[in-house]
Parts: sequence; structure tokens; C-alpha cells
Amino acid sequence: MPAMPRLRVQKTPALGHAAIDSEHAAITDQWLRAAKCEPFQFQFFIARLKSLMTNHFENEAALMERAGGQLCRCHRDEHQSLLDLCDQMRELSDRSWRKTQSLLRVKFPVLVRKHILYTDQMAVLFINTNGAATPPQAIAASSGA
Ligand SMILES: [Fe+2]
Repeated sequence: MPAMPRLRVQKTPALGHAAIDSEHAAITDQWLRAAKCEPFQFQFFIARLKSLMTNHFENEAALMERAGGQLCRCHRDEHQSLLDLCDQMRELSDRSWRKTQSLLRVKFPVLVRKHILYTDQMAVLFINTNGAATPPQAIAASSGA
């Protein structure tokens, strides 16, 4: 039986937006759980990972809109590719555990890291520059609303 791909864990890059950084950390934690789980647990862990990612992508889009912009087409496409990869791993896991682990342990973290460093970083720069770094409750409190 071929060896399982080695699990390499790198620190999730911090981009300087508390909500986005915290959701990235939660996704990383869930990815690690999925990468270390037993085959019978995988469907649950990958579903949870996809759910966290879906919510995070929606939150990221909402933050961009609150800052007066929107996620560009390539950013949205990368989000969809990551969700599609979750589906691909979920479908493949019953047929090939080793191939699933290869996608999960090698391909997934590389794509996520590149997305954070090159794509999310631009979005956070836009959000922070246009004032959406502050939680809405703090804005409402400071304006007396
Ligand atoms: Fe993103």
C-alpha cells in the first residue's frame, strides 16, 4: 500500500482583519481535523469544512460590499474552485482514500495558502482602506445610533 502523503502544517498568514483572520484560522483547524481523521469520520469533517468555507466566503463578500466594492470575478472563481475541491474529495473518499488524502494534504493547503496570500490580501487591503475593518456595532455606537 502506498504511503500516505505527509501532513505539512504551516501557520495561517494573518492579513490584519480580525474577522477574516479568525475565520481563516477556523478553516485551518477544521482542515487539520479532516486531514487527521479516520475514513469513517471523513464525510462529517469535509462537510463541516465546506460549510465553514461557504460561510466565510459569504462574509468576505459582505465585507467587500460594506466597504463599497465587490469581490472580483477571479476571487469568486477561486472560492468556487475550493468548494468544488471539497465536493471532489467527498465523492472520491469512498473509492480512493489515498487519493483523497493527497488532495486534502497537498493540493488543498497549497491552494488555500495562495488564495490567502495573493487574493484575500488584496481584498483585506481594500476593506481596511475603506473603513470596513470596524465591526458594525462599534460604528453604530460611535455615531449614536
Ligand atoms: Fe477569499
